[in-house]
Amino acid sequence: QDTEGGFASKYWRYFLDGTAMTIFISLIGVLVGLVLGFILSLMRLAKNVIIRFLGSSYVEFVRGTPLLIQVMFIYFGVGVFFNLPALTAGIIAVSLNSGAYICEIIRSGLNSVDSGQSEAARSLGMSRNQAMRHIIFPQALKNIWPALGNEFITIIKESSIVSVIGVGELIFQTRVVRSASFEGILPLIITMMIYFVLTFTLTKILNYFEGRMNHD
Ligand code: ARG
Repeated sequence: QDTEGGFASKYWRYFLDGTAMTIFISLIGVLVGLVLGFILSLMRLAKNVIIRFLGSSYVEFVRGTPLLIQVMFIYFGVGVFFNLPALTAGIIAVSLNSGAYICEIIRSGLNSVDSGQSEAARSLGMSRNQAMRHIIFPQALKNIWPALGNEFITIIKESSIVSVIGVGELIFQTRVVRSASFEGILPLIITMMIYFVLTFTLTKILNYFEGRMNHD
């Protein structure tokens, strides 16, 4: 049944669609996760005990349960009350998950700045807020940026979990190609290579920016 060069010409579209979907989910997930993580890290730094408790409970709970069950819970559990499309549920779950990890990235970035910096800022008459905004945070960014890049790489790989609810990202499409083509191994090799090219390219880009940041 195959025409010349059958496999590539028949199935390249699936890999392309899957790759685009994987990048889309990861990008949105990390961006929403960044906003959420920022809010959570503010909560964890708050003076109010209850706010701190809520922030750290969220982070501990999300990091202490598998992304797999979070995805299923959002899709099937929340789906009882209103109908969430699988893609929406998947993106929500990935974002909620990433937010918890990004909160910790921001927190450890802030903690990595020497406490003398904040003491110096305070002794110059800056308020706690001003010191945070103008002195601590800019220095913390140096540690936060690379870690955020790593989070993006992690999410590119881990977002494959949303395939369990039928979102057509790369792993899902790979399964489709495997059953449609009766090729058991080739699609797996192609998909591994695609993931590797994505993450390796990102790593290189990150290293480049990291190198530049350390020059000034
Ligand atoms: N496999 C882990 C889990 O299921 C990955 C969680 C996602 N990791 C992340 N950095 N957002 O919990």
